[in-house]
Amino acid sequence: MPRPTRHVFVCSQQRPPGHPRGSCAANGASPLLQAFWGELQKRQAYEQVAITYSGCLGPCDGGPNVLVYPEAVLYQGVTPADVGEIFDSHLEKGEPVQRLLASAAAW
Ligand code: FES
Repeated sequence: MPRPTRHVFVCSQQRPPGHPRGSCAANGASPLLQAFWGELQKRQAYEQVAITYSGCLGPCDGGPNVLVYPEAVLYQGVTPADVGEIFDSHLEKGEPVQRLLASAAAW
């Protein structure tokens, strides 16, 4: 397997209903993860990008959260509609999508 240029972690943490921290799963992480995998397949970018689901990344209330390395860029409130832009701007050109960046307090 080639070493990817960028690695995307999509928080898919689940918690019981009513949990005080909420969860990215409750905020739509599953369709988001499917959108990332679908876009990866569409672009056949397997040698450049890796997509992995993860457990809790920390700032749960702003989820779904997405973390991209090697830049350690944290995105919050990501929806499936944002995935194409993340690929176009960040994963292919190295330019993070400013409007989705987590606040300094979150990260
Ligand atoms: S549940 Fe996703 S960051 Fe905590």
